[in-house]
Amino acid sequence: MEKKSISRVEIGLHWTIAIGIIGLISLGIFMSNTRSFSLYDIHKSIGLLVFAIVVVRVLVRLQKGWPENISEGPAWEHGVARVVHWILILGTIIMPLSGMLDAVMSGQGLSIFGLDLIADNPGNNGRPQAIDESMAEMAEEAHQLTGYVLIGAIVLHVAGALKHHLVDGDNTLIRMLGRS
Ligand code: HEM
Ligand code: HEM
Repeated sequence: MEKKSISRVEIGLHWTIAIGIIGLISLGIFMSNTRSFSLYDIHKSIGLLVFAIVVVRVLVRLQKGWPENISEGPAWEHGVARVVHWILILGTIIMPLSGMLDAVMSGQGLSIFGLDLIADNPGNNGRPQAIDESMAEMAEEAHQLTGYVLIGAIVLHVAGALKHHLVDGDNTLIRMLGRS
């Protein structure tokens, strides 16, 4: 099922998640590369909040279907755009789930800005101890790999949006900005 108009709720969800995901990818890569452990809790807390918004977005998509294409253009282009939308949606689900699995399996627990959702797993020395180290490693690799797939998909997605606007001169980007 496809429809021509995009509601304010869908537009709000799109831009909130877009900013959240781009911010979390940047923060995630920065904190991992610089080993800034003090940023991990902030990354995880924002990631959990973004996950809650992603769940709402997926429910809205399931209920309303994809927005209808308003542009002309070859079928293959629409096909690529649809595949990229699927990668983006699935990526926004896999990222927080793999991040949570990594955190819980490595014994860190889950909390949002200090509010405990799942307590950490204290070892003998009082420091968090892994619950399942190999699962934590697998989840960490999935988190990293999906992050890079998402970056590729976002680059294609933004290039597509700019092409619609600058080359084709259609309303695809304007509609997502809520101006049509
Ligand atoms: C919601 C979207 C999220 C995005 C887009 C995201 C993105 C990223 C990225 C790109 C990295 C750097 C990976 C690397 O280069 O090693 C990272 C690291 C990490 N993320 Fe996330 N993240 C998200 C949510 C979460 C959540 C919900 C948690 C946990 C509750 C989490 C926990 C972590 C941890 C622990 C690391 C460090 C892994 C390491 O030890 O290197 N992330 N994240
Ligand atoms: C900041 C740069 C971004 C721009 C300029 C942009 C632009 C757009 C535009 C114009 C559409 C409508 C396409 C159509 O009508 O067929 C769209 C849809 C979509 N975008 Fe983005 N977007 C951006 C970032 C993101 C990010 C970071 C994500 C996810 C990680 C994302 C996920 C989606 C999805 C899943 C759709 C399909 C419709 C929906 O579910 O809301 N976008 N975007």
